[in-house]
Amino acid sequence: SQYLSQSNHYRGCMKHLVKEEQYQKTKAIVVKFGEPGGTGELLQKKLLERSDKTYNWVYDYWLEDMYLNQRLALPVNSNPAMVFPKQNFKDRKDSLRFAAHLITGVLEYKERIDTRVLPVDFARGQLAGTPLCMKQYYRLFNTYRLPGHKRDTLVIHKPGSIEQEHIIVACKNQFFVLDLVVNKKKLKEMDILTQLEKIVKMAENSEERQPPFGLLTSDGRTEWAQAREVLIKDSVNRESLAVIEKCLCVLCLDNPSGMEVGDTSRALLMLHGGGHEKMGANRWYDKPMQFIVGEDGVCGTVCEHSPFEGIVLVACTEYLMKFMTGSPSKMGRATSVSELPTPARLLWKTTPHIQDLLKASAERLQRLVRDLDMDVHKFEVYGKEFIKKQKMSPDAYIQVALQLAFYRCNGRLVSTYESASIRRFHEGRVDNIRSATSEALAFVKAMTDEKASLSDSEKMKQLWDAINAQTNYTITAITGLGIDNHLLGLREIAQELKMERPEIFTDETYVASNQFILSTSQVPTTVEMFCCYGPVVPNGYGCCYNPQSDHLLFSVTSFHGSTETCSAVFIKALDEGLVEMRDLCRKSNKPQSSAAPAASKAVVNNQGAGSKLPSTLQKTMK
Ligand code: COA
Repeated sequence: SQYLSQSNHYRGCMKHLVKEEQYQKTKAIVVKFGEPGGTGELLQKKLLERSDKTYNWVYDYWLEDMYLNQRLALPVNSNPAMVFPKQNFKDRKDSLRFAAHLITGVLEYKERIDTRVLPVDFARGQLAGTPLCMKQYYRLFNTYRLPGHKRDTLVIHKPGSIEQEHIIVACKNQFFVLDLVVNKKKLKEMDILTQLEKIVKMAENSEERQPPFGLLTSDGRTEWAQAREVLIKDSVNRESLAVIEKCLCVLCLDNPSGMEVGDTSRALLMLHGGGHEKMGANRWYDKPMQFIVGEDGVCGTVCEHSPFEGIVLVACTEYLMKFMTGSPSKMGRATSVSELPTPARLLWKTTPHIQDLLKASAERLQRLVRDLDMDVHKFEVYGKEFIKKQKMSPDAYIQVALQLAFYRCNGRLVSTYESASIRRFHEGRVDNIRSATSEALAFVKAMTDEKASLSDSEKMKQLWDAINAQTNYTITAITGLGIDNHLLGLREIAQELKMERPEIFTDETYVASNQFILSTSQVPTTVEMFCCYGPVVPNGYGCCYNPQSDHLLFSVTSFHGSTETCSAVFIKALDEGLVEMRDLCRKSNKPQSSAAPAASKAVVNNQGAGSKLPSTLQKTMK
């Protein structure tokens, strides 16, 4: 029955997003799929068997589908970035002091991970209080995304499996090995600073300069896999790659980019480095944690996404920010300067063929850089406190506002992705909250096409319906009852059984349901910084938001190449919609008595849902 209600849910999500004729076709396909004794029943049975044998039946399928099978370049298309507050460095040395302090913080945080003293996270917001799976933290510094011809591999180094702990420092497109343990002593901050100073000096030496090999990691995954195969024919390249692949993290010491320093330009520098002529080659995009420290004060991280979600990244980077402001630099030494070996520059063997590959990667990165249309915007009229005062979920409210903005710009709603954490389950990553609900469509129409013909109280009722639908979907998704992971599981198990792909997955509606023209995610922070990422389809928007008590921060991305999108236009529509929604709430004085309680009732009903979870999802973090 769970499975039947899921198929109804799928239809409900798509009915208003496709043409009626197409919907009728889909309905017939879904009904046939779900018939007793039909394909759906068989696949569901197999999925249940899989769930008995695995900690988390969807994790591997999800990881491959979401990341490892994807062939697009990592910068912009996949790697999110976290932009730190702009720093005011006096000079290069000052920026190196910051970098040494940051790396000291990284080592302290890693020590907490290794000694397993990180406190367990508990859910906040909806259904607060449940303990959350911590596995993602254990992949922050010991993983690497290895490119493959058809599928990448997430390599996980076991703790203690690498004899020498080191980071890679990128400077002027050169890569250096900074060993963190010398003569069995851990380097202190002063030692790290000394080593960074040596690295900067070595990078200046143009005679020893190596080609910008980091560029290859910015290319499409298949292109990079092919290039890597050429590279590893030579032992020098093999050794350099092996050292990079086993490092804890990459520290990118950037030169000033020459760009005007604002939120948007800083976000761009994090996402793609400004292209190969700026800092785009001073990166190694496969490495999950890359810290960027620019001489001009532009700092942050860009992350390979497959090992962890933005929320874990926030926890780590907030720790680092607090470490840096809370603990002044301790410039003690563990070892005398004369004992510190000179950091090794990684060497590369090139051939004319490899030079061509580098050139091709540089051109493709440049295209990506030119195409990205980014707008970081602080909406300062109000923040989540105002929304809470309306007794509405701030997240649901913002999602409805995003739907309104999209409708304003395009006159329709589209498949929308909002990440919902499922860390309540072992190995849980995310499922999807499909925010383009039919209730949201009714509301956005009420605020636009039907604006003149509807009263404020009718509009307010529509707003409440949209908020309630969104809040209910959130609860459904975070308790493991979303439809996206379930459909993915059924599709993949059919593939494993070598069945012909069932019609439900070749149907036009299913294809449209997975084209996330609006890809959104809440990444809240408690210190001053923000997250951003690119769109996931050529004609789409990426929208990452950070709700604060008195303002809302939005990072909106799209591609110039699409005639259907424009980040500035979207932001303008969002601004207008948020103001109109506030005015509507204000005018209606208090929440509608008939609709408001439905929100809290929905929560109560769903809180009990845990006991009704299918066995596939019972392995919660109790
Ligand atoms: N009235 C008053 N206050 C309300 C309310 C209501 N009806 N509903 C919610 N609130 C409060 C909550 O109690 C919470 O309070 P807090 O700030 O004191 O904790 C706050 O508003 C926020 O709640 P809400 O806006 O409903 O959102 P949430 O925190 O539950 O978040 C998701 C919803 C979907 C974003 C969250 O569950 C999630 O999955 N986050 C992870 C997303 C992710 O993975 N991002 C990274 C992807 S890389």
